[in-house]
Amino acid sequence: MTTEPDFRTPALDALAQQVIPREHFVFSAETARDHFFNDTRMLDAKQWVHNAFRTNPKSMVDHMIDNLRLAGGEDLLDLGCGNAFILEHLRPHLATGSITGLDIAPAVLTAAADRLRGTATPCTWIEGSADDLSMLDADAFDRVLANYMIHYVPDLDRCFTEVRRVMRPGGIFHLTTDRPDSMLEMYDVHFTALRAMNAPEHLFKATPKGRLSLDNGTDLLSPYFDDVEKVMWQDQLRFTEPGPFMEFYRVGHNHCCASSEPDQRLDEAFFAELRGRVREQVVAAIAAYGYFAVTKVTGTFLCR
Ligand SMILES: C[S@@+](CC[C@H](N)C(=O)[O-])C[C@H]1O[C@@H](n2cnc3c(N)ncnc32)[C@H](O)[C@@H]1O
Repeated sequence: MTTEPDFRTPALDALAQQVIPREHFVFSAETARDHFFNDTRMLDAKQWVHNAFRTNPKSMVDHMIDNLRLAGGEDLLDLGCGNAFILEHLRPHLATGSITGLDIAPAVLTAAADRLRGTATPCTWIEGSADDLSMLDADAFDRVLANYMIHYVPDLDRCFTEVRRVMRPGGIFHLTTDRPDSMLEMYDVHFTALRAMNAPEHLFKATPKGRLSLDNGTDLLSPYFDDVEKVMWQDQLRFTEPGPFMEFYRVGHNHCCASSEPDQRLDEAFFAELRGRVREQVVAAIAAYGYFAVTKVTGTFLCR
């Protein structure tokens, strides 16, 4: 039997108390559709780094496969399916089932369709928002996924009511999100740099996943489902060179959301200085410890 690695230390927990702001960023579905996911660059940067630099031998997809308990013939709906990176891995476990991917952003939906084109599992791609599933029949799916996307959905009440409607009795709604202090070291170097630059106060906010995180998700989901089980796992990304981390920070995370929306007060010189200051800290950590660590605390709500 393998045990899950535990990377969190009392020192990291204490640091989290100091570093992670209470208020979190909030982004609209339109911003997600028109800015973050109008191409696949953000998803590509994240997926590459989360996989190539992980130290937990079990990947995110391995954890999902455990959680989903697929027999092979299930009908699966993926809300906010992105470029189908996850679906590509799940597909062989649905050899006699079906896949329906729904996403608000046409660009990533096209990438998803291209990725799974020609595979034996029937796939349907729907452009739409996860809080309007009116195009889908009741009791149509055995599994419904919402991975790292629920914080963008405008109407959570309508979304969960709709998920309940389209999910068959005995099905599983699999919602994956983070704890607000996941990737703490990235936020630490980011906020340290912002403070040194006397940056505007509105940039000192936590991840938008704070809207429905591993901390508050049980309370938010319980009114809609009979049983809500939380399954957590950790990972630690380790970077021995600054380049891949800086790509992850700039493209994958829009400088911890500081560059997520156009802001005339923040020009390219501001972000160049910010990256320089973040990079300095990453280089210093690599010199001191051999690598720069980014500790993830992530997980899934299994709702039945
Ligand atoms: C961080 S990505 C996650 C993609 C995929 N689930 C994964 O984990 O690789 C978030 C996705 O949610 C989509 N999205 C944002 N708001 C949405 C909404 N209201 N309804 C459906 N999809 C949405 C985005 O276009 C994007 O593809």
